[in-house]
Amino acid sequence: MRVKDLISLAELSTEEIYEILETARNLKLELRAGVKHEMLAGKTLGMVFQKPSLRTRVSFETGMTQLGGHAIYLGPEDIKLGKREMTEDIAIVLSRYVDGIMARVFEHKTVEDLAKYATVPVINGLSDLLHPCQIMGDLLTIWEKKRTLEGLKLAFIGDGNNVAHSLINGCARVGMEFRIACPTGYEPDEGIVAAARKIGGSVVITHDPKEAAAGADVLYTDVWASMGEEDKAELKKHAFTGFTVDEDLLDRADPDALVMHCLPAHYGEEITYEASRSEGSAIFDQAENRLHAQKAVLALLMS
Ligand code: CP
Ligand code: NVA
Repeated sequence: MRVKDLISLAELSTEEIYEILETARNLKLELRAGVKHEMLAGKTLGMVFQKPSLRTRVSFETGMTQLGGHAIYLGPEDIKLGKREMTEDIAIVLSRYVDGIMARVFEHKTVEDLAKYATVPVINGLSDLLHPCQIMGDLLTIWEKKRTLEGLKLAFIGDGNNVAHSLINGCARVGMEFRIACPTGYEPDEGIVAAARKIGGSVVITHDPKEAAAGADVLYTDVWASMGEEDKAELKKHAFTGFTVDEDLLDRADPDALVMHCLPAHYGEEITYEASRSEGSAIFDQAENRLHAQKAVLALLMS
């Protein structure tokens, strides 16, 4: 890998994305075969969280253990990033102790600053703008199930949020069409869309979920109100009425379409429980693949 950090998938080349996917696939097969790894023996990952987490925390911590290393959880009350101490000092001090930093933050600039001042690799474990580790697990899931990525059509039904943004970045790099159906005013970031189109990515923005879902290979959704938007939850519930992934919408997608959600889900809002458990559902494979994809990132950046 050419890069020191993983902050945005837009900073990775197509080759680097496939390097992560191939490494992840091998690590997954080796784990299943009982192969033990010590490639991060003696190494420590500092995990900084400003927000809650199930998947990100457990998969990173488990991933470090499986690679022979160790992880330290630093929750919102432990270091009070940006409140008790400035981001720059935290990055410099952590770099004197640990071999890598994973951070889940509110403002995207915070994770960028950590990467700027840390001398060790910094991995973005979700910011208000991006969620690259999620999308590496998702691409691994699609690649395993569809045997290819290039040429597939992914329809995202919902908010133009961090997950949508990283999907736009990732789809552009691997030649997948990205469509989003969202209410007016909830479109993805124009700069991210423009950058994806500039490298040849196909990004379609519509306000009609049926139009987006038509013939799609993947139907993807995420919560309407993200972490930190609790005060907007009611407003968004009204705005997003009609943007639920349900069995009717599934019928419009390709018959072999995958149903995806990064989780946690609010069943009955962005997706029905029935759709989440339908034949094409890949939601728990996505969750598992966070582990394998992130182990690949850790191995490539830290060993
Ligand atoms: N998908 C995801 O990032 O889950 P957590 O918020 O539980 O880490
Ligand atoms: N968009 C969601 C993703 C959670 C994994 C959020 O930021 O809360």
